[in-house]
Amino acid sequence: MQHLLLCVLATTTAVQAYGLGSSGWDVAYLKALEALQKLNQTEKVGIVTGVTWKGGPCVGNTYAAESIGYPSLCLQDSPLGVRFANPVTAFPAGINAGATWDRNLMYARGAALGAEAKGLGVNVQLGPVAGPLGKNPGGGRNWEGFSVDPYLSGVAMEETIQGMQDSGVQACAKHWLGNEQEHNRETISSNIDDRAAHELYVWPFMNAVKANVASVMCSYNKVNETWACESHAILNKLMKSELGFRGYIMSDWNAQHTTVKSALAGLDMTMPGSDFSSPPGSIFWGPNLQKAIDNGSVPQSRLDDMVTRILAAWYLVDQDEEYPEVSFSSWNGGKASVDVTDDHAAVVRSVARDSIILLKNEEGALPLRRPRSLAVIGSDAIVNPDGPNACSDRGCDNGTLAMGWGSGTAQFPYLIGPLHAILAQSERTGTQVIPSTTDDTAAAASAAAVAETAVVFINSDSGEGFITVEGNKGDRNNLDPWHDGNKLVQAVAAVNKNVIVVVHSVGPVILETIFAEPSVKAIVWAGLPGQESGSALTDVLYGKVSPSGKRPYTIAKQRSDYGTGWVNAEVDDFKESIFIDYRHFDENGLMPRYEFGFGLSYTTFEYSGISILVSARAGPSTGKVIPGGPSELFERVGTIITHVLNSGSVAGAEVAQLYIGLPYSAPWSPPKQLRGFQKLWLQPMQSGVAAFALTRRDLSYWDVKMQKWVIPVGTFRVYVGSSSRDIRQEGSFTVRGRWF
Ligand code: NOJ
Repeated sequence: MQHLLLCVLATTTAVQAYGLGSSGWDVAYLKALEALQKLNQTEKVGIVTGVTWKGGPCVGNTYAAESIGYPSLCLQDSPLGVRFANPVTAFPAGINAGATWDRNLMYARGAALGAEAKGLGVNVQLGPVAGPLGKNPGGGRNWEGFSVDPYLSGVAMEETIQGMQDSGVQACAKHWLGNEQEHNRETISSNIDDRAAHELYVWPFMNAVKANVASVMCSYNKVNETWACESHAILNKLMKSELGFRGYIMSDWNAQHTTVKSALAGLDMTMPGSDFSSPPGSIFWGPNLQKAIDNGSVPQSRLDDMVTRILAAWYLVDQDEEYPEVSFSSWNGGKASVDVTDDHAAVVRSVARDSIILLKNEEGALPLRRPRSLAVIGSDAIVNPDGPNACSDRGCDNGTLAMGWGSGTAQFPYLIGPLHAILAQSERTGTQVIPSTTDDTAAAASAAAVAETAVVFINSDSGEGFITVEGNKGDRNNLDPWHDGNKLVQAVAAVNKNVIVVVHSVGPVILETIFAEPSVKAIVWAGLPGQESGSALTDVLYGKVSPSGKRPYTIAKQRSDYGTGWVNAEVDDFKESIFIDYRHFDENGLMPRYEFGFGLSYTTFEYSGISILVSARAGPSTGKVIPGGPSELFERVGTIITHVLNSGSVAGAEVAQLYIGLPYSAPWSPPKQLRGFQKLWLQPMQSGVAAFALTRRDLSYWDVKMQKWVIPVGTFRVYVGSSSRDIRQEGSFTVRGRWF
């Protein structure tokens, strides 16, 4: 009885300390605080400490706490499927989800990902990714995330996290912060100015926190000379206080360097609990954390806070209610005792299909109708003859590219290659298919010479730095197609006047050589489509569906035009500041080959009318900090509306995009920045309304002096269009200061 009373009292005090109300987090915190009372000290330390590398079935595992029925938590990659397990669905990569610009598909993908993770007993799925954001076009892991634009990335983070957590798995937003390259990632310091940090790199994590993400992973690199996982500035101050994050921060695998400093800086869980050696070394927490508490270097309250955060996240997504047991082991082939794949192939196909970007289409080359003969060329047209999973963590570029390499992968249950799908289709259209499935130019030319049309497949791969593929240590050495793809296309274009090029790539590929070939009538970007690659592609090539993807990053005419690139150094000063990708191209008047937001369709769209209704007060956003930031920041201050008509003859989808230019009273800013988008599916002659809701954040810049998001005084420029360069409607609105 006395114990119960003490518990209630302790909980009540803690409730006051955490300022609890009745939101999802508040209820979760109440449960967590109650559970905390029942835990002994060993259990508490165990909840925050990984059981060491390969010490459990998942890539990360913590210790169970029997007194509260808390399991050994299973933390498992990846952002595109459950890694090291089978059967699972191999979803399109994040970059393809971004390229759909379709909120519903982003959510559906997240929900399906989460359902598989939960089905297999995974408690925490290590994704989605908003860092790297992709400022370096050759950054090895850019494809794990959604877009180089923080707004698009932020929306995708939010939808994905909601989908995952609605399915019951805890999401993990990673990598926090400034993890923009693979070279020297474990030693480099990302020195980011405060404004760029907020407006670019922090922005999508704000969406993640707003979506109540359960956990965040701090990155390997240093930020402004301090290890990310022991930086008070970015963990306690930025993530927890400024963004109001209520879940827990785990270290990237072996990204922790200290026992005390990391604990005091705001780290809540160490992963995997040791380094990667066997027997495991460098155990910073576990018994060492207890010692630090005993000698007073880490207060007991800090440990209690770590535990409370971890338990609250567990309760938040109801994992205390009959959660499945882990049904596979990462270390013995991953065969699961259950099949969780359900009908998720349909989601894969939709995302893969609607992320395909038609870059060029002349003389109606696409869609293919009933070609008498079709040459299908390139090693990228077929599945790796050794099988789609032949290379561990997909660390090779043999056969068609459908995901990059590294920890951000999953095993293919099957992979439908382009040739396979084209063959199936050609039976229906009576087309003779002439394959040449190597990258040999002579063989390619002889196949193409006798065909009416030739489809050439090229690719460009990258991944995580622990694997080197064809001389690329994670990051790409250049932005050219691999395996001499330019030469392959040239050889085909020399003998065939009707060439279609399909690109499977992790990021931008310089296409100038290909673009300059008059015989190349169409160019299609298919990204990293996952297991339904071929089926999604034929849906588009044969016009079953109009292509509707839009560029999630710019394709430049030459690599140097980006003004950024990964550095072979111990410091990256982020000198480009807020000017990355289209912000940089616009600012410097550079012509890209295919701009951010660009993508053609089989139909045409006309925009008409623009109504701008904005009533915002200039000045800083304040208010109580809610998950994401100060509450005012998310208040709606306006709507911009335009009409879009499908003026062509087939059904299709348009992504209407809203860009805003800040007034001149703001500090030096990009000419325009994405602040809204809407994808509209329209039948021929059907028109739809694109309505963009604006929040205070959308009109703000980060004021370094005030340390606040501020809406500047003056006239804002409004651009609505089909891409960042194809603006169809313009307007403006004025925000006055309080003194007017
Ligand atoms: C390191 C990677 O950076 C991270 O993304 C991944 O989740 C962990 N390894 C675990 O595999």
